[in-house]
Amino acid sequence: MSTAEPLVLAVDQGTSATKAILVDRHGDIVARASAPVALATPAPGWVEQSAEEIWDSCRRVVAACLDGQDVARVATIGLSTQRESLLLWDRATGAPLSPLLGWLDRRTAGDHALLRAGPDAELIREVSGLPLDPMFSAPKAAWLLDRHDPDRRRSRAGELCLGTVDSWLLFKLGGAHLIEVGNAARTQLLDVRRCVWDERLTRIFDVPHEVLPQVVPSQGPFPGTRGLAPLPDGVPVTAVLGDSHAALFAHAGWQRGTVKATYGTGSSVMAVIPTATRVSSGLCLTVAWQTGGCPTWAVEGNIRSTGATVNWLAGLLGRPPSELAELAADSSEGVTMVPAFGGLGAPWWDENAVGLISGITLGTEAGHIARAALESIAFQVEDVVAAVERETGPVARLLADGGASSNPVLMQLQADTSGRAVERALARDLSALGAAHLAGLTRGCGTGPTWTG
Ligand code: G3P
Repeated sequence: MSTAEPLVLAVDQGTSATKAILVDRHGDIVARASAPVALATPAPGWVEQSAEEIWDSCRRVVAACLDGQDVARVATIGLSTQRESLLLWDRATGAPLSPLLGWLDRRTAGDHALLRAGPDAELIREVSGLPLDPMFSAPKAAWLLDRHDPDRRRSRAGELCLGTVDSWLLFKLGGAHLIEVGNAARTQLLDVRRCVWDERLTRIFDVPHEVLPQVVPSQGPFPGTRGLAPLPDGVPVTAVLGDSHAALFAHAGWQRGTVKATYGTGSSVMAVIPTATRVSSGLCLTVAWQTGGCPTWAVEGNIRSTGATVNWLAGLLGRPPSELAELAADSSEGVTMVPAFGGLGAPWWDENAVGLISGITLGTEAGHIARAALESIAFQVEDVVAAVERETGPVARLLADGGASSNPVLMQLQADTSGRAVERALARDLSALGAAHLAGLTRGCGTGPTWTG
C-alpha cells in the first residue's frame, strides 16, 4: 500500500443501479461512478436480473471510479447490496444456472398462501423473525432447486451454490461461498437470534444445508479481490452489509428513539433494538450487522410502493417524476390514495389489498391527486414508524435518505404527519457510504461521519 493517505472503495449493488464511491478519511467522496442494471419481467409477477450483468456492472463502476486515481491508495473495500434476491450457480464452473430472482418477484405467492394457512406458519415467523411473504429468499430457493435439482442430489453433493447478491459478488471476487449475516437474516432460513441456518426452516423449504453459503459477520473474514482491474489482487474486503442496513450505519442511527427511513422505489424503515425480543406489530426482526462478537438487531418495516407511486402517477400525467412535488396542491381536497399496487407490505402484509384513489369529485384536479400521492408516502412511513414506536418506545427522530428525501415538500409533509424531527442526509449514496465507513473502521482507516440536516 502507498504511504499517501489511504482511501476506501465502496460498491453499492442495488436493484436498478450499481454504484462505486471512493472515500477519504474525512468521509468525503472523492470519486464516484454508476451503471444501470436491467430488470426483466418475463411473466406477470416475475422479476429477474442477469447475475453476469450484475458482476459486470461492478467491474465497470470500479474501473470508472478509479480512473485517474492512485490505486495503490485503496486500502480496503466495502460492499452493500440489494437483499433477498437469489440465484443458483454451479460451484465448479462458477456459471449461473438461473437468473437472479429479484426481491420484487412474486412467483411464489401461491406457495406462501399455503404456508400461511399451514401448521408451520408460526414457527417460521418466530424463528426467522420475518412474516411469510414472497419477498424473502427461502421460497425462491425452493423454486430454483425444484427446477434445477428436483431430487436435491447435486445440492447434497455440494455441486451447487445458492446465494444472495453479496454471496455472488464475494464468490466472483474471491471464490468463496459466503453470506454476510445481515443478508442471511433476510433469507427466512436463518435463526435470527442464533445467527445460524435453522434445520427446521431448511427442512420446511426443502433447502439442503450443503447448497447454502457460510454465514459470516459483517466485517468478515472475506477473501481479498482478484481480477478486479485496475486494483492489484489481494485488496481486502472488510465490510459487507445489506443496503438498508448500510444506510442505517451511515446515519449512525443506533441511538434510542431514532428511526431511519430510506425513500426508494419502496421504503425501508428500520431501528436498532437492544435485544432480539419477539416482534409483533407487523414488523420484521432482523440482524442489522455483526461487528465484534455480538449481532446488532433491528426491527424493520418494508413498504412496497413509495417512489414507485410517484413514478406511476407522473407517467399517467405525462410529467417527469421530479415535477410531481411542484404540481402538488397545498391540499388534496379530500382525495386519498392507497398505493397497494401489489398488495400492502409492513405493517399490514395484506396480499389481497388493491390500490385505490377515493374522494374524487368533478372539482378534483391533477394537483390534488399529486398531493394525495405524496401524502400516501408520508402516511405509509408514519404507519411503520408508529409500529416501531409500539415495539421500542418513543421515537423522536426520523433520519431520511434515498432519492425522494431530497424533495422538501415530501419531507415537510413527513414531519407534519409524524410530529417528529425529520433529518435528511445531506450526502447521496448512503448505502455505499455505510459500507465505506464500516470497511474503513475494520481496516483502521476511519472515513468520518455522515452529516444530516
Ligand atoms: O430489500 C430490498 C432492498 O434491499 C432493495 O434495495 O435500494 O436496491 O431498491 P434497492
